[in-house]
Amino acid sequence: MTQSLPQTPVSPSPSYSLADWRGGTLSLAEEFDYAITDIEGTVPVELQGTLFRNGPGLLDIGGVPLKHPFDGDGMVCAFRFDRGQVHFRNRYVRTPGYLAEQAADRILYRGVFGTQKPGGWLANAFDLRLKSIANTQVLYWGGKLLALWEADRPYRLDPHSLATLGEESFDQVLAPGTAFAAHAKVVPAAGSRPTRLVSFGLKPGLSTALTIYELNEQGQVVQQQQRSLPGFAFIHDFAVTPNYCIFFQNPVQFNPLPFLLGLRGPGECIQFQPHQPTRIWIVPRDGQGEMLCLNTDACFVFHQVNAWEQSGQIGLDSICYDRFPSLDPQQDYRQVDFAALPPGQLWRFELDLASKTVQRHCLKTRCCEFPTLHPAKVGQDYRYLYLAIAAAAEGNAPLQGLMKIDLQTGAEQIWSAAPQGFMGEPVFVPKPTGEKSFPEHWEEDGWILALVYDAHHHRSDLVILEAAHLQAGPIARLHLKHHIPYGLHGSFVDQVFSPSP
Ligand code: CO
Repeated sequence: MTQSLPQTPVSPSPSYSLADWRGGTLSLAEEFDYAITDIEGTVPVELQGTLFRNGPGLLDIGGVPLKHPFDGDGMVCAFRFDRGQVHFRNRYVRTPGYLAEQAADRILYRGVFGTQKPGGWLANAFDLRLKSIANTQVLYWGGKLLALWEADRPYRLDPHSLATLGEESFDQVLAPGTAFAAHAKVVPAAGSRPTRLVSFGLKPGLSTALTIYELNEQGQVVQQQQRSLPGFAFIHDFAVTPNYCIFFQNPVQFNPLPFLLGLRGPGECIQFQPHQPTRIWIVPRDGQGEMLCLNTDACFVFHQVNAWEQSGQIGLDSICYDRFPSLDPQQDYRQVDFAALPPGQLWRFELDLASKTVQRHCLKTRCCEFPTLHPAKVGQDYRYLYLAIAAAAEGNAPLQGLMKIDLQTGAEQIWSAAPQGFMGEPVFVPKPTGEKSFPEHWEEDGWILALVYDAHHHRSDLVILEAAHLQAGPIARLHLKHHIPYGLHGSFVDQVFSPSP
């Protein structure tokens, strides 16, 4: 009798290697300033302006790796597009913590996501100082370039040199230490409402104090309102329509004890509560009237995609996780098992204001993050959405491709940089000729800009794609001379800030 061969377990071959991915988690300590000359394809001459990007640039200090990349000091990049020529510059935000740690060449502060000072828990216990790291978003508003991090005030930078000018208070509105969210939203004018920058800040306590700020185009705070949310709130992003701000209060508990005792970072003290609802807060922007609270089944949201008003309802798209995608505090994040974490997925919510009910359904199950759309469609019903996606259709994995979704028809376009390319956040840039050149489809008449980490060459490329023809791939690939560590968010300004003013 012949024995059958033992069965080899069949595991789907991943679209990436962890060693390749890890290359994008190395620090970039150097600050560069050069014209990009290594270009495949052609940079459109009509693409005029500056792409700013922010993200953690230092993943180690004095050779000691951080516990989590989100604890890394903010490094801002500027790509200046001027008549087909592109200039690159990167600089660190000179926060007091960055300057002190660079001078000491060692970790002096604990990080929100678990970075500890050397010396074990005794060296960390009851040290509750956190380092402001200005690493999450960078945007230009009211003549000021601002590096944002949600637990502190913005840092103002010179848009030409990227030199740090200091903390921004908006004419003394923000006292030192005031939290100002990284996901400020530019809300286009609608009806009689002018264009506004809308943002918020959270102050923890037994209940959470929520402050909503509205800034005019001159950069002045013209309205602020305060609300109180029950219990602990972890809210990274929000959605805004002409009349409402919408916040998802994720069902999490915060147990500060391991943080106080020097064992964990505060971000590692968050526990998902799967049997508690996610609370959806709908706050009237005019500050009048009660806010509404609607409940939906437990889910976790970092990023909101967009929201719009439609006859007594608010439609809202989110990137949802079925639980908090936390890492094992004992594990080195560079060894992370992506497949063991839940994927972010695109969900649509319909919020009925009269009946106070929520309908929701999943639009796309594919792992995705970093949504973007035409800036004129923020707060409006919209048709086209762009996302960074995993290469495989199922499961969680690093982001390696781009997807465009036509929300009217459900049609998808995909471009993938797998197996050795790793995708950053896409940014949609409208063409200056937009409504004229392509009147039926002006909403998709633009370019998608994204940074891709190329593990094969250990360098990063800025890719430019036609938004209308995403699946055709880049019309230009700009090869940098070095890599850029995986970043977070960025924005495009149609002004060209020359390297020297
Ligand atoms: Co974010």
